[in-house]
Amino acid sequence: MAGPRAGTAVVTGGGNGLGAAIARRLAERGLAVVVADVDEAAATRTAARIGGRAVRLDVADAAACRALVAELDDLVAWVNNAGILHTGPAWATGDEQRRRLVDVNVHGVMNGTLAALPQLRARGAGHVVNVVSLAGLHPAPGETVYGATKHAALGFSVATHLDLLARGERGVHVSALCPDGIWTPMLFERTADPDAWPSWSGVMLDPDRVAAAAVDLLDRPRPLRAVPRWRGAMLRAAATTPRLVGRVLPTMIRVARSRQRTWGRRHGGRS
Ligand SMILES: NC(=O)c1ccc[n+]([C@@H]2O[C@H](COP(=O)([O-])OP(=O)(O)OC[C@H]3O[C@@H](n4cnc5c(N)ncnc54)[C@H](O)[C@@H]3O)[C@@H](O)[C@H]2O)c1
Repeated sequence: MAGPRAGTAVVTGGGNGLGAAIARRLAERGLAVVVADVDEAAATRTAARIGGRAVRLDVADAAACRALVAELDDLVAWVNNAGILHTGPAWATGDEQRRRLVDVNVHGVMNGTLAALPQLRARGAGHVVNVVSLAGLHPAPGETVYGATKHAALGFSVATHLDLLARGERGVHVSALCPDGIWTPMLFERTADPDAWPSWSGVMLDPDRVAAAAVDLLDRPRPLRAVPRWRGAMLRAAATTPRLVGRVLPTMIRVARSRQRTWGRRHGGRS
C-alpha cells in the first residue's frame, strides 16, 4: 500500500535524535512537518533545517496535543516519538522521576494518539506511529521504570490498533516501532552509566536507519515492527522465560558493559 505523500505530519520530540531524523525523512517524502518538542530551541533548529514548522509541545499535556490537532485540517500522520530515560532499579528512581517517565512515555503516547485519532477516523485514513523500544518487549533491569513505561505504551498501541480493526476501521493505522539501542543524545551521557547496560545488550543503531523503518510504516503499516527484526523475535522468546534469563543475567551484563565501555572509548561520549 502506498502511504501519504501530501498533508501534515506531526513528530513529537522532533527536535533531537530519532525524532529529528524521522522529521527529515517525512519532509523528504513531501509532507508538511510539524516539529513538536518541549525543547523549543531544538524544534526550531530542526524545523529550519527541513523546512518544517516548530511548535513547543509537552506531550504530557493532553489539552495541548488536542489544541495542536485543532490547528490542522490535513493531518495524515502523528508520530509519538518523545520519550525520556532514567536509569537504575525502581527503588532508586525517585517519585518525581517515576511520575515524569510515566507522564511522557505513557501518557504522552496516549495523549498524542487520542488527539490525532478523531480527525483521522473522521476521514477514514491516516497513521499513528508510536516509537516504543525493545524495552517494551522484554523487561529492562537497570532501566526498569523506563522499560515498564514502554510495556504500557506497546500494550496501548497494539490494543488501539485492534480496537480499530474490531470496528472495521481499516483505513486508520496504529503502528508500534520497537528499536534496539540508538546512538542519540539520550545515550550520549550514558556510556559510563553501569545501569544503562541494556542499551548496549544488542546492536547500537544509527538514528537514520530507525527513521527509515518508522517512515516505512506509512507504506507498510504493522501493529509491531522491531528493529532489527531478529532482536525482537529473540527478546519476545526470552520474555517468556524470566527464570532462564535470571540464570544468564551476570553474563549478559558483563558482555553488555564491555561493549558499552568500548563504545564510550570510540565515541568519546558523543556522536
Ligand atoms: N536512544 C535509544 O537507545 C532508544 C532506543 C529505543 C527507543 N528509543 C525511543 O526513541 C524515542 C526518541 O528518543 P531519542 O533517542 O531520540 O531521545 P533524545 O533524548 O535524543 O530525543 C528525545 C526528544 O524528545 C523531546 N522530549 C522529551 N520530553 C518531551 C515532552 N514531554 N514533550 C515533547 N518532547 C519531549 C526532547 O526534548 C528531545 O528532543 C523515545 O521515545 C525513546 O524512548 C530510544
